[in-house]
Amino acid sequence: MSKSLTVHHQTTQQTGEVALEHEVQSLAGEHVYDGITEYDNPTPGWWKWLFGASCIFAACYGLYFHLGAPAGRTIYDDFDQQAAAIFQRRFSEIGDLKPDEATLLDYLNQPKWLTVGEISYKANCVSCHGQNGEGLVGPNLTDDNWKNVAKLEDIAKVIEGGAANGSMPAWRNRLSHVNQIVLTAAYVASLRGTKPSNPKAPEGNPIPPWPKGKPASGGAQ
Ligand code: HEC
Repeated sequence: MSKSLTVHHQTTQQTGEVALEHEVQSLAGEHVYDGITEYDNPTPGWWKWLFGASCIFAACYGLYFHLGAPAGRTIYDDFDQQAAAIFQRRFSEIGDLKPDEATLLDYLNQPKWLTVGEISYKANCVSCHGQNGEGLVGPNLTDDNWKNVAKLEDIAKVIEGGAANGSMPAWRNRLSHVNQIVLTAAYVASLRGTKPSNPKAPEGNPIPPWPKGKPASGGAQ
């Protein structure tokens, strides 16, 4: 008696398993590989639409902002334009500066304008000359040895035209205004004699100190 019960129990269990297997297979459709079964759930419609819409948006965005679109649409362009406008407005106070010794000496004594040179230096020059002019790829700008500079105004010339076949790039067309070159040169000149903590070894020849400047004139603060 107990034997027949066991057999009956086993049969029901087997029938149940087979039924479950059938149900799973009908739900899974063809998606049974190596005994691993997965449901054949199609991606929902809203997901496909969202994906398609994102692709179209990305293509339009790329075309509009990056490929062949007129300049001035990205936030970077916007920043450059606004920075240039601020420089232009501030520079209208002082007109176009000449990159000569007298002008450099004058602005070397005007902290307000040296700050403008410092901003330009920090934005364009630190990658090669270091945060404080201590030198990296480019030479140390704080010591008395110089490779391409014998006189104060040579600094502006090197900035404008570059040196060593472009390993020091020419900034003539990259800095937005001639005053930016002059004020950056004045800031570089002001670094001489400062003692950064990790100076690069001197390169080039020692040159005489900058001439003495006259006391700060009108625009000083
Ligand atoms: C890509 C790297 C690089 C950048 C960026 C760069 N420089 Fe230079 N700079 C050099 C190199 C290299 C030299 C040395 C050229 C040589 O060997 O004659 C140099 C030389 C100079 C010199 C002459 C130094 C000397 O001893 O004669 C000055 C001044 C100078 N750079 C200023 C600047 C200023 C200001 C900026 C930013 C507007 C700037 N540099 C950006 C690489 C750079």
